Amino acid sequence: MNMNIAVAGTGYVGLVAGVCFAEVGHQVMCVDIDKEKVEVMKAGISPIYEDGLEELMQKNNAEGRIDYTTDYQKAYREADAIFIGVGGTPERSDGSADLTYIATVARQIAESVVKDCLVVVKSTVPVGTNDKVEQFIQDFLVNDVKVEVASNPEFLAQGTAVYDTLHAKRIIIGSESTWAEDRLMEIYQPFHLPIVSVNRRSAEMIKYASNDFLALKISYMNDIANLCELVGADIQDVAEGMSYDERIGAKFLNAGIGYGGSCFPKDTKALDYIAKQNGYALDTVKAAIDVNKKQRIMLFTKASKRLITLNGLKVAVLGLTFKPGTDDLREAPSLDNVPLLLEQGGADIYAYDPVGASNFAKVYPEGKNGNGRITYVDQAAEALEDANVCFIFTEWGGEIKAIEPDTYKRLMRTPLIYDGRNIYKVQDMERAGAEYHSIGRQAVMRKEVKEISEHELQTH
Ligand code: UDX
Repeated sequence: MNMNIAVAGTGYVGLVAGVCFAEVGHQVMCVDIDKEKVEVMKAGISPIYEDGLEELMQKNNAEGRIDYTTDYQKAYREADAIFIGVGGTPERSDGSADLTYIATVARQIAESVVKDCLVVVKSTVPVGTNDKVEQFIQDFLVNDVKVEVASNPEFLAQGTAVYDTLHAKRIIIGSESTWAEDRLMEIYQPFHLPIVSVNRRSAEMIKYASNDFLALKISYMNDIANLCELVGADIQDVAEGMSYDERIGAKFLNAGIGYGGSCFPKDTKALDYIAKQNGYALDTVKAAIDVNKKQRIMLFTKASKRLITLNGLKVAVLGLTFKPGTDDLREAPSLDNVPLLLEQGGADIYAYDPVGASNFAKVYPEGKNGNGRITYVDQAAEALEDANVCFIFTEWGGEIKAIEPDTYKRLMRTPLIYDGRNIYKVQDMERAGAEYHSIGRQAVMRKEVKEISEHELQTH
């Protein structure tokens, strides 16, 4: 049966969920406090860059299954279910989750609902939060209606959010009554996906345990990669050899400059914090966090050993976002490396990213910056032209991975490349005559590259 669904928050989680609920036939009202954003969405424009989202918005807007409003009272009054997907739970400096947004929405729900209603928490929240939200709503409830809270974490990845929602590997339902369970099952019935129904605390834990397991997998591969360099092994060959074992799996074995994004860094720290609060040391997750911290500046550390200084050298930076397919910069490794290159290095950076540059320029405006300078360019070739060093931070397909190894040799003053995403085959870079450093593989060294760079320094 189609239901009236309200969605609180139109960030990645809320908007994608709302649009997908509309797509399978439900009647959806998305609520956001930002008036301008609501107008933009009504006009069929997605406020976030996400493959396929805008098309689905336009289709469902036109067919009248989805609408957007700032009037939360109206939206919640008519809803059979209200999904909380507020740009969730930012992390506090100690790693704990900040639940202010969720509490605000819970209060608004309590004051607005006039019929029985299921409240569903989609944002990632510490174990036990759903219990608190339910209690909070009961405390402030104005009308005599039934309101229960269920947990329904999502597992979408940015860049593939719509696909991941419509083709999710599993739907997790965390509830404390068959009424809540049945209502949520009914909402998901048209998706035809496997459903795992558990209690609320287990559902909350499934989200953290899944994300942190993936973060751990990446940190483990990065740790092994660093060892590979020392013992003469190649991490990509090692990963391939491991991947045939189904117990290990073939995905998330890519070594690189560490994980970023809105989930892994936050959720590892949050679970570590939850464990500490409960008097337990979650050593595995702690190790994943520590390895990632070191890994993110691994290339800068390598470059600092190779060159006396980067002061005044032209440094090409290719890729700024935390991964391809998104304009999101949250916890992107570039945000650790660019300030190091500018401050400690005094570099003259030419940065290229197909979609993330304007967001990055809000943090590091073009021009003189600390001891260095930063300029944003529209083409990777402009960044590489006459550059002394190149850092690759994001493996954008057509724009960065497609650059031929010879191009570096042809365009750069000195073809010295630090590749944080293992984009190239080591032999291809060797053949192209470049000095090439990557992660977990043997470096291609060129004496003359270092000499020329140092000569450049002296003549600056
Ligand atoms: C992640 C989870 O995949 C998703 O299920 C969850 O709901 C939210 O967090 P997302 O952060 O969008 O999604 O991106 P993901 O593709 O998982 O990548 C996260 C980070 O890990 C990126 O910085 C990526 O570059 C890095 N990564 C990923 C690796 O370094 N190696 C890998 O093998 C995979």
